Amino acid sequence: EKGGYPHFMLKEIFEQPHTLSDCMRGRVNVEGNNITLAGFIDNREKFLNARRIIITACGTSWHAAQIGMYAIEEYARIPVEVEYSSEFRYRKPVIHKDDIVIAISQSGETADTLAAVELAKNAGAFIFGICNVVGSSIPRNTHSGCYTHVGPEIGVASTKAFTAQVAVLTMLAILIGKEKRTVSREEYLNLIRELNLIPEKVAEILKKSGQIEQYAKTFTYAGNCIYLGRGYNFPVALEGALKLKEISYIHAEGYPAAEMKHGPIALVSHEMPVIVIATQSDTYEKVTSNIQEIKARKGRIISVVTEGDQVVRGLSDFSVEVPETLPCLTPLLSVIPLQLLAYHIAVVKGCDVDQPRNLAKSVTVE
Ligand code: F6R
Repeated sequence: EKGGYPHFMLKEIFEQPHTLSDCMRGRVNVEGNNITLAGFIDNREKFLNARRIIITACGTSWHAAQIGMYAIEEYARIPVEVEYSSEFRYRKPVIHKDDIVIAISQSGETADTLAAVELAKNAGAFIFGICNVVGSSIPRNTHSGCYTHVGPEIGVASTKAFTAQVAVLTMLAILIGKEKRTVSREEYLNLIRELNLIPEKVAEILKKSGQIEQYAKTFTYAGNCIYLGRGYNFPVALEGALKLKEISYIHAEGYPAAEMKHGPIALVSHEMPVIVIATQSDTYEKVTSNIQEIKARKGRIISVVTEGDQVVRGLSDFSVEVPETLPCLTPLLSVIPLQLLAYHIAVVKGCDVDQPRNLAKSVTVE
């Protein structure tokens, strides 16, 4: 059942080239000229006229929501708010009839997200679900939606569900943008071309698992880690930190790289690994100077960089290269080394990666 892998988590990490293809099959046309999402077509006017999109989720799904916010704002030009379901449901949120509420949940059973859906439905909003488990409670309580189609996720730490959630949100953002003409035809075709290349690029990164495993052995001493990223890679930093704390019990926090100097840099010493996602983007130079500030305080740098990178590599104790892609698709690649890093560190530490202490796969109580 683990397909020859020692743990479900590793199997699920390695399934991602296939699960991403499955998630995009029939949605991103292989001839490279079209994206379709049934849930969008049926509700086209609602999406085109939405005043605002609110995305509600918990945990890893909330991180996917953050990436979705960047993509929807960039391509669809609709304002987006991302909410923790547990907070949203107990505030007195202002919800309008022309708001769209997107609920993201792998299990489709998370109690707080289900309650957030009920609340928004009662307020008259249109509710769109992005879930993995077919026929679960959240999809049964939404008006429309889109399944991620990655198959059962058994490892408690979410991996393949996360990348598929990001893929669905990205497809949705591009599709709304194309219909609203906030995305040009040329940009649209280029996005589709790049989306189609993602599964094979993920497969490339997975070949580096052995290299990451070797490096993970030097990590057992660490009590604290910081993950940094900017733009589309900021939520990836949050996700990398969550993966590490869940399964290796090492305390980790994700920050937008530029926030370091507003406090967390005080923590940096030679004992503190700092994991920086520094792929090519228009903030690459800025991230580089954030890294220099950490180096100056003797922090140890582990970086995720774009293939061919020289500068950040030269500043790092260890780096993993990922293939080049468009900024909005970077999370689908940059998260892979972080999933592998958390996995290998946890294994080296002898932790039970599939069943970490105190955690349940679906949180059906609040
Ligand atoms: C992290 C993780 C959790 C879940 C969260 C939401 O690896 O698995 O943080 O993401 O409990 O679960 P779903 O997506 O099922 O609503």
